[in-house]
Amino acid sequence: MYKQRTLCVLLASTPLWLFGLAPFVATAQDTPSDPAEQGDRSGDRGRVVIGREVGVADHLRNGDEFHRPLAQLLRHGRTLFEAVFTPQEGGGRPLSKGSGAAVSDPSSPLVFPRAFNRVSAMDANSCGSCHAVPVVGGGGHFTANAVLIAQRFDFLTFDHDDTVVLRGALDERGVPVKLQSFNSRGSLGMFGSGFIEMLARQITSELRAIRDGTAPGESRALSAKDISYGRIARRRDGTWDTSAVEGIPATSLVSTGASDPPTLVIRPFHQSGTVISIREFTNQAFNHHLGIQTEERFGAGADPDGDGFADELTRADVTAAALFQATLPVPVTCRLSSCRSILENGDVGAAR
Ligand code: HEC
Repeated sequence: MYKQRTLCVLLASTPLWLFGLAPFVATAQDTPSDPAEQGDRSGDRGRVVIGREVGVADHLRNGDEFHRPLAQLLRHGRTLFEAVFTPQEGGGRPLSKGSGAAVSDPSSPLVFPRAFNRVSAMDANSCGSCHAVPVVGGGGHFTANAVLIAQRFDFLTFDHDDTVVLRGALDERGVPVKLQSFNSRGSLGMFGSGFIEMLARQITSELRAIRDGTAPGESRALSAKDISYGRIARRRDGTWDTSAVEGIPATSLVSTGASDPPTLVIRPFHQSGTVISIREFTNQAFNHHLGIQTEERFGAGADPDGDGFADELTRADVTAAALFQATLPVPVTCRLSSCRSILENGDVGAAR
């Protein structure tokens, strides 16, 4: 008999101390009563004005993240994740690609009807429009797939009459691309992603300890938490030989000399395993999918996409968005009926 099973999430509160969040936990409960003080960066951003529609009326100011109560940061992070951003707060990126680079053809800015493109993106107004199954922060159905590595194009049309490289049809070599040249990928859930990141950080530090104990002329097995990463070696002159290292991306194996060892950083995010942290991913995703450019990634006061807005998210906003994802609970497997019970009543015991 077919038994319907589905992935569900524990609603139990995540043990926050596991994440080393101490710097973000409030030391003072000094919530300002003036809404303008609650993060409004530009004076009138938070006010209700007829004809003005924004997804996030109040932003955090840099520094707020160090004294706001954690619960408040998580609420703000969730707001940022669920918000539907509009062009009135910097949504969209007329002169920037999803990769963050300038568009190849600035004479065709990415504005209506070229603002949205389901392949090369921008492809959404909200993180939650893809990451919402079974609840916000989760994965997405096939309809919420993202097409990765297509974001290096301005606006894909596959029009072979388009002769501008990386604009609408030609790749870096001038070769016409096909839909199959990209990866349509399922939207992953972020449940448990804080644990994934902490695990990766621990593995990195264990591998580095082995690296640092490797003397010139020596070779050592690289292993952490019962996972083998091959061997690391040093030549007699002290330079590093990573030819026998396995499972660590090339960007973490770069070394320019004896005094510049490979970082051995584990990159647990993206199917390609290229992104180090939820925070790095978040900075990229806001630009790629929504055209929201963070101060942290693009620089304070910068407006590289030319939409008239700078600092579309503050550094403190990014902290809140990353914390919201990092503290989502770990998924468990359960039958559909007991999943419902957990989601509706918080009855975690029903999961097993
Ligand atoms: C159009 C759909 C879509 C939107 C919108 C979207 N994502 Fe994603 N997200 C994806 C897909 C697809 C993946 C998997 C990509 C991969 O594995 O290469 C992903 C992966 C992630 C991951 C990494 C998960 C992992 O375990 O590797 C994070 C973190 C993330 N998204 C955060 C965000 C944030 C923050 C936003 C909003 C700024 C956002 N996403 C908006 C589709 C989307």
